[in-house]
Amino acid sequence: MEHKIGLIGCGTVGQGLLGILHDKKDHLRDRFGFEARIVAITDKIRGTLLVPEGIDIPAVLDLLGKGKNLSDYPKAAPGQTEPLDPLDMIEKTDAGIIAELTYTDITTGEPAASYIKKALRLGKHVVTSNKGPAALHYKEIREMARQNGLQFRIEGTVMSGTPVFHLVECGLAGNDVREVKGILNGTTNFILTKMETEGMDYGAALALAQKMGYAEADPTADVEGFDALAKIVILSNVLFGGTLKTSEVPCKGISAITKADVEAAKAAGFRYKLIAHAKKEDGVVKAIVSPQKLPLSDPLAGVMGAHNALTLETDLMGKVTIQGAGAGKTETGFSILSDILAIHRC
Ligand SMILES: NC(=O)c1ccc[n+]([C@@H]2O[C@H](COP(=O)([O-])OP(=O)(O)OC[C@H]3O[C@@H](n4cnc5c(N)ncnc54)[C@H](OP(=O)(O)O)[C@@H]3O)[C@@H](O)[C@H]2O)c1
Repeated sequence: MEHKIGLIGCGTVGQGLLGILHDKKDHLRDRFGFEARIVAITDKIRGTLLVPEGIDIPAVLDLLGKGKNLSDYPKAAPGQTEPLDPLDMIEKTDAGIIAELTYTDITTGEPAASYIKKALRLGKHVVTSNKGPAALHYKEIREMARQNGLQFRIEGTVMSGTPVFHLVECGLAGNDVREVKGILNGTTNFILTKMETEGMDYGAALALAQKMGYAEADPTADVEGFDALAKIVILSNVLFGGTLKTSEVPCKGISAITKADVEAAKAAGFRYKLIAHAKKEDGVVKAIVSPQKLPLSDPLAGVMGAHNALTLETDLMGKVTIQGAGAGKTETGFSILSDILAIHRC
């Protein structure tokens, strides 16, 4: 079956998705009977392409790789590269699936939330890796999708393509997930790892994380725990049906942790990790983000570098821990593919 797909935002994740769809074309068709036709792309800096017969993915990736704009697409017919606001693109395209891949605004969820709602109103499934709408508007958007017989899928918002939501939905189906505890931010885990294994102080480890592209020039969202906070709110609301707001969750990052703290913990057989924790107790969902000293026997203590991990406590399987990438072009592109394949399977 062929699916017509439209992309809003074509940066790292969008190009990661396009690359996978091209490279895995035969595998996806032969194994799953899945074919993708990219019929629309709109991006703030890179322009617009609206091509109902399907975009030539290698040609687009070649253009973008050379720093060119979608208006340079060699096969464009007149009118196919007219700049379009995403809201207009959603209206004009006949895509049945919209991949919303613009930047995360964790205070409003906009403008992505408006794009998603419009797509759902017009009968299109939505997949996104954008934490804003998922953390702030999940219940409303999910309900809108349900009422329209559509899917709103968010695998990439937590741990990139490491399949948290698919695991709960498919592999652990039938279990009651009671509690989750995880390392949901790779940058802080990288910093804490360097402080312990190479004896760096916090400033030097942060500078290295910035040099290696793990941390932004302004690292606040990572080191003060706000990124992990958005993710634990998403997990709480999706897995436990909660209605938590980011403002209701206590949040402390790692910026006050010193080399001496890390060394003292190590000497006592513990390891510092930035832990995001949520559980449902007596019908009440509670969550917290804070640095914790874990015993080395805890599976999360062994997760080093920029990796993410999550332990889910379930009624039938006990504790299940998954570990994997928390970011990356291919990994997050894959998260979008995994959601699109889930729609295909339905
Ligand atoms: N990269 C990862 O590893 C990763 C992992 C998990 C989740 N995510 C999330 O996935 C989303 C995409 O990430 P990314 O790494 O691909 O970001 P990116 O490289 O910055 O790409 C986003 C693209 O969307 C464009 N854009 C922003 N606002 C737009 C709008 N209103 N309309 C149309 N285009 C717009 C951006 O243009 P401008 O540059 O002009 O703003 C940019 O070209 C983000 O929400 C991010 O938090 C990313």
